[in-house]
Amino acid sequence: MDKFIIEGGRRLQGTVAISGAKNATLALMPTCLLAPGVFHLRNTPNNRDVWTFSRLLGSLGVHAELNQNTLFLDSTNVTSTEAPYEHVKKMRASIYVLGPLLARFGEARVSLPGGCNFGPRPVDLHLKGMERLGASIEVESGYIVAKTTSSTNRLQGNHIHFDVSSVGATVNVLMAATLAEGETVLTNAALEPEITNLARMLVSMGAVIDGIGTTTLTVQGVDALHATDVDTIPDRIEAATYLIAAAATKGDVTLRNVNPYHLTAVIQALEDSGAELDINGETIRLTMEGAPKPVDITTAPYPGYPTDAQAQWAAYMLASTGAARIRDHIYPTRFGYVSELQRLGADITTDEGSCTVNGGSKLSGATVMSSDLRASASLVIAGMMAEGHTDVLRVYHIDRGYENIEQRLRELGAVIQRVPTDEY
Ligand code: EPZ
Repeated sequence: MDKFIIEGGRRLQGTVAISGAKNATLALMPTCLLAPGVFHLRNTPNNRDVWTFSRLLGSLGVHAELNQNTLFLDSTNVTSTEAPYEHVKKMRASIYVLGPLLARFGEARVSLPGGCNFGPRPVDLHLKGMERLGASIEVESGYIVAKTTSSTNRLQGNHIHFDVSSVGATVNVLMAATLAEGETVLTNAALEPEITNLARMLVSMGAVIDGIGTTTLTVQGVDALHATDVDTIPDRIEAATYLIAAAATKGDVTLRNVNPYHLTAVIQALEDSGAELDINGETIRLTMEGAPKPVDITTAPYPGYPTDAQAQWAAYMLASTGAARIRDHIYPTRFGYVSELQRLGADITTDEGSCTVNGGSKLSGATVMSSDLRASASLVIAGMMAEGHTDVLRVYHIDRGYENIEQRLRELGAVIQRVPTDEY
């Protein structure tokens, strides 16, 4: 197992190229199960979640190979419709194979994903959507057993309303609807840019989808789809993480390969805190001088402030001149990182679904433990802000969604090393 050793107090300066979006890639990869053929997913990030999903697709008969950030998928010979627990337990997004397998093969047996460190992660909206498309759903021994029930062995188009805006349920049900018989209308569909990336890929495969980019998606089912190539959108959460890290270290950092339109809420919060941002096409330059003003944030579905960037904001606000409140309405228990930040000397209090960061305390290096992907990013940022050395344990969490993070931070002037360790 690896840990990071960080020596704090360095300003980040320079340029960093942002990778393709992990959460788009995880939605694009399972589309290969909807049609036989060879797919190329360009701008794919080289991270642990992509490797995990590639192994899952491999277990279904898909040949997956990542080469220079292009993911090659050959789904000519899908040999199984079962996603075993050994894969699904590692990554919740594995459930995204349910919709495509059900739509193309009429059946699927997919392990229920576990929860994760920041709370329960239900899948009821995924299952209800499949039932609304005419599937029978049973849960047996921790597995979802899904079957079509029509005489044609195909899903049936229907109207589906999502009671909660759900990225994953929208991904799963949208993919399934493309091969259902008849029209499907999804209302209160998620608006995240990753959904738009997926919808456009499905259209390039021959799907018929109207309303892309809105909360109402109308799908005319087709009999078959075909393989395609796609460009993955930039990772808005990785970008937000580097922008926040730059501001937290009073740095001067330019991000390349970003889509600023996907970052409006984060850019606004950073500017409210006193950072200066210069946006020019696909680059954003952030410069920060002095301590940030305290800025409250409340997470919300896109285009609101992303829940995946709230832990990073908490670390940043440790440098602020007052108190900042961070509310997470999407994952009210996603504050596991707070107790770790307190080990560095942070003055943070937590309440139901929120925390309050009292900025200005002196931060001193310590050993801290990652608990999930974005909490890890928060600890790395705080480690770069603290005086002395900080060891961040269990960095496999961060490797799930940040390609070469220690190398990229070193190139920006951080003092950070990855070392093997028996500590965990
Ligand atoms: C996606 O998770 C992301 N993961 C998460 O990013 C992100 O935090 C989340 O969306 C919210 O933006 C991927 O895209 C792979 P949801 P997902 O369904 O799809 C409730 C990261 O760090 N809900 O949009 O699982 C749920 O409890 C990860 O990259 C149900 O009630 O999230 C939550 O309160 C972590 N029933 C809300 O909806 C369901 O069936 C939003 O969840 C599904 C979700």
